[in-house]
Amino acid sequence: DTLPFMVASQAGATGLVKQYTHIIVDTQARPEPDELKDLAQGSDLLILPTTPNHLDIDVTIKAVELLSTMTDNYRVLLTQVDSRTKTGREARKALEEAKLPLFKREIPRLVAFERAAEKGVIVKDYPDPRSNFGWLCYQAVGKEIFALMT
Ligand SMILES: Nc1ncnc2c1ncn2[C@@H]1O[C@H](COP(=O)(O)OP(=O)(O)OP(=O)(O)O)[C@@H](O)[C@H]1O
Ligand SMILES: [Mg+2]
Repeated sequence: DTLPFMVASQAGATGLVKQYTHIIVDTQARPEPDELKDLAQGSDLLILPTTPNHLDIDVTIKAVELLSTMTDNYRVLLTQVDSRTKTGREARKALEEAKLPLFKREIPRLVAFERAAEKGVIVKDYPDPRSNFGWLCYQAVGKEIFALMT
């Protein structure tokens, strides 16, 4: 077991929930409105990861139109940002213009993330020249989350 956290299915999580301080729920790509409402009410923060692709950004903006009627406990996280192109910058601009709350930090597209997932380890435990940078980016997001919670 090489992951520094417990992973459980939703069905298997019932008995585990009370043993842990921090619980992260990974949802399907587009939760139903009822489920979204339950998540919004039961969570300290909803994180909406999106790639900078036009289609994903459109879906994210639509999702937030609905979510914003339920809560303001959410932030959009740009992921898989290709540093070689300007898509990331354009996406951030589009999201800002749509007045969506964004994490300042974004997650770069790195082979290290793919390989780490393949190997079943977190990025910092995958030997690759960029894995430290990938880890640093998530740590920065973590700090933003902590700042929101206090
Ligand atoms: N920042 C990244 N850089 C490179 N590859 C990434 C990055 N983030 C995710 N990936 C890869 O993209 C694929 C999908 O990632 P992920 O499971 O996070 O997507 P998802 O949208 O949750 O998919 P699903 O709909 O199946 O739940 C995986 O192969 C993963 O390794
Ligand atoms: Mg997923």
